[in-house]
Amino acid sequence: MRTSSAALLVLLPSVFAIPLGEAPSLRLDVTLSRVEDTRIKAVVKNVGSEDVTFVHINFFKDTAPVKKVALFQHDDSEIAFEGVEKLFKSSGLTEDVLTSLAPGDVYEDEFDVASTSNLSKGGHVTLHAVGRVPVVENSTITGSMPFKSNKLVIDVDGPKASKVAAAMKTMHKRTTVESCPSNDKQSALTTALQNAAYIASQAADAAESGPDVRFQEYFGTTDSETRGIVAARLRAAAAEASSTTFGQTSYYCYDVDEWCSPNVLAWTTQTTNTIANCDLYYTDIPPLTSVCHDQDQATTTLHELTHAPGVYNPGTEDFGYGYDAVAALSPDNALNNADTYSLFANAVYLNC
Ligand SMILES: *[C@@H]1O[C@H](CO)[C@@H](O)[C@H](O)[C@H]1NC(C)=O
Ligand SMILES: *[C@@H]1O[C@H](CO)[C@@H](O)[C@H](O)[C@H]1NC(C)=O
Repeated sequence: MRTSSAALLVLLPSVFAIPLGEAPSLRLDVTLSRVEDTRIKAVVKNVGSEDVTFVHINFFKDTAPVKKVALFQHDDSEIAFEGVEKLFKSSGLTEDVLTSLAPGDVYEDEFDVASTSNLSKGGHVTLHAVGRVPVVENSTITGSMPFKSNKLVIDVDGPKASKVAAAMKTMHKRTTVESCPSNDKQSALTTALQNAAYIASQAADAAESGPDVRFQEYFGTTDSETRGIVAARLRAAAAEASSTTFGQTSYYCYDVDEWCSPNVLAWTTQTTNTIANCDLYYTDIPPLTSVCHDQDQATTTLHELTHAPGVYNPGTEDFGYGYDAVAALSPDNALNNADTYSLFANAVYLNC
C-alpha cells in the first residue's frame, strides 16, 4: 500500500434484482421524498408481518456519510458516491446500532445527497434505495431482509448543490508509507495482509478453475465471464495485500479519519482508496478463523480491499452482509458485493 492521488470513481449502473421466492414476512419499504433542494426524507416502514430488529449502520439513521440511496443521471449512469463504507461485527452488537420495528411501524431519516455526491452538474437525478439489511436476534446477525424504495426524481440546481458542504473530511496529510503508531497493530495488520493475500489468491484459483458448485453458491452463476471477473478482482486484491510499499490503496492501522463507531471493524472511502481498521478489528475477531462463514481479520481486510476501485474498478458495494444475505443476492449484485468475496475466500480456505 502507498499513497495515491484521489481517483475519480465511476460505478457501473447496478442491476437491482430481488431474488424470487423471498419470504414475505420480513420486508422494509422505504418512501423517499424531497424536503428541499437536495435534502431528502426517507420513511422506513416494516411492511412484513413480524417484529424485526436490524442493524442500521450504513442504512437510514446512520449519522455518518454512508450510502443510503443510489443516484442516477438521466442516462441511467450512476453518480459516484463519495462517502464511507463501514464493515461491522456480526455478534455482540450494541443497542445503539439496532432498530426495532413492529409490523406497520415507521421511522424517518433526513439527509442531503449533495453532501456525498458531486451534483454540480445539476439536472434530473433519480434516487433509489434497494438492498438487504442484517436482521438481528439476541445481538447477533441471524439473517437479512430486503428493502426497496420508490424511485424519486428531483431536478437539481447545480450551483446550489455544489454549495452543500462535502461530508467527507478534508484530505489528511498523507505520508509516503502509512505509519502505524502501535507495534501490536502494525504486526496484526501485516499478518492480516499476508493472510488476505494467501486466501485471495487461493480463492482466485477456485474462481477460475475450482468446482462449479461452490462458485454457484456464492455468485449465483457459473458463467465463465463472471468467473473471470471474480478471479481478476481476487488476484488484484492479493497483489495489493502482498506489498506494503506499492499499490493503489492507503491502508491505515488506525481510525485516521475518525469514521469508526461502536461495532465497526473497518471502513473504506472509495474516492480516496483509503482503508482503515477500527480498534474492534484487533480485539473482536481472530487473525484467521477456522469457522465456516465467520469473520476474521484476513477476510475483513479482503472485504475492504475489494471496495477500493484502485485495486479493481469498480469497487464493490455492500448489498448484503453475512452468509445468509450473500446467498440471497442476485448474480449481478453478488459480483459487486464485498462480503461475497470474503465469504467465498473463507469457504475455499476452509473447504466448507
Ligand atoms: C464536481 O464536478 C465538477 C465537474 O462536473 C468539477 O469541476 C468540480 O471540481 C467537482 N467538485 C468537487 C468538489 O469535486
Ligand atoms: C443470547 O446471547 C447470550 C450471550 O450472547 C446467551 O448467553 C444467551 O443464551 C442467548 N439467548 C438466546 C435465547 O439465544
